[in-house]
Amino acid sequence: MKQFFIYALVGLFLTACGGDPGDGGKGDKKDIKKKVAKKVDGKKIYRQYCVTCHGVNGDMGASGAFDLTTSKLTLDEKIAVITNGRNTMTPFKGLLSDAKIKAVAEFSETLKK
Ligand code: HEC
Repeated sequence: MKQFFIYALVGLFLTACGGDPGDGGKGDKKDIKKKVAKKVDGKKIYRQYCVTCHGVNGDMGASGAFDLTTSKLTLDEKIAVITNGRNTMTPFKGLLSDAKIKAVAEFSETLKK
């Protein structure tokens, strides 16, 4: 499933660039790498996986979700909660890569008031 997603992304990307006339120089590969690296966007991951319980601003508290705007956990502790879950919170170990978990944990820090 994860692999499919990656292929789908790469496919989309190649299709999007396919129409560009000319521009087939050496710089292309580097650009692709940059764009793929940029895909690890904590905010995007948060919107995709976390808003259902924590809400856009982190304070929705659906299904007893912790108010992230008042969280006192360190970044590492957040990474641990996101990775392994806690009580009703789902573990994201199998769903998100380590890099993505770190990115979304970093994003959740920005929700603090
Ligand atoms: C199914 C609903 C649900 C989803 C989806 C969910 N959470 Fe949670 N989250 C919870 C609940 C419930 C708690 C409180 C757990 C407890 O009481 O032990 C929690 C707690 C946390 C905590 C601990 C806060 C603290 O200070 O103790 C963090 C950090 C967190 N969630 C981040 C995330 C992130 C980031 C995502 C998305 C990758 C996410 N959560 C997705 C329900 C959810």
